[in-house]
Amino acid sequence: MHKTINDIIAKKGSKKISVVTSYDYTMATLCDQVDVLLVGDSAGMVMLGYENTAPVTMDEMVLFTKAVSNGRQNALIVADLPNKSYENEADAVANSERLIRAGADAVKLEGRLPDIIRAIIKAGIPVMGHLGLLPQTAKKYTVQGKTESDAKVLLADAKALQDAGVFSIVLEMVAAETTKRITEAVFVPTIGIGCGKDCDGQVLVIHDMLGLFEKLTPKFVKKYLSLSEAIKKAVAEYVENVENRTFPAEEHTFHMEVQK
Ligand code: KIV
Repeated sequence: MHKTINDIIAKKGSKKISVVTSYDYTMATLCDQVDVLLVGDSAGMVMLGYENTAPVTMDEMVLFTKAVSNGRQNALIVADLPNKSYENEADAVANSERLIRAGADAVKLEGRLPDIIRAIIKAGIPVMGHLGLLPQTAKKYTVQGKTESDAKVLLADAKALQDAGVFSIVLEMVAAETTKRITEAVFVPTIGIGCGKDCDGQVLVIHDMLGLFEKLTPKFVKKYLSLSEAIKKAVAEYVENVENRTFPAEEHTFHMEVQK
């Protein structure tokens, strides 16, 4: 039995919530020990090579969600509603239902959109909010909540999302002091990325933490591995083996049956 929404909510104030992004079957099986596998629209950048998350489509998110769902046994699966897929209540509900049919347990959307959130929840689908830096629409990737007035707006946004019924809120690139105030002010868990240590949980893009994505590494990322280097070294060795004919060797080779 995999984790439930209530398992995640119950962690607030006791144990930290661990979240990584996941977009495919193999990585989902390897990362399934976390609390939440987030099928993030960051897939657009790390899986599809887009400049940002804005062009990601519903069809793409459905495919990634299916793949992750095939590999999950333990974690809760939250899937991102991509840009422009929740511009009105009818679209938001229909697209959330597609992600649930693909295997998600909940959906995530960006911004202060209480009516849209209420409509999705009314259709029986749990919603994770997302405040602070909103990559689908941001013009620049800058730290949010740095001034007292910005902090107050974010705090009010978080309360509005909570009142609308979200079961948790991702905070992205929010000043640590503001993050702490929001986390203490709401009863739903906050999940931080680039927000310091005072969230109820943490999320990282899996390609960043494994050192797989070389295009950019934000300050808030801790690289646990340098997989891109290991992969390039392995592929270089393979190319050399093919060229100098040391692969395939006898142990990799099939033979005909000997005729008697
Ligand atoms: O798409 C994503 O990876 C996300 C995280 C940055 C929270 O939304």
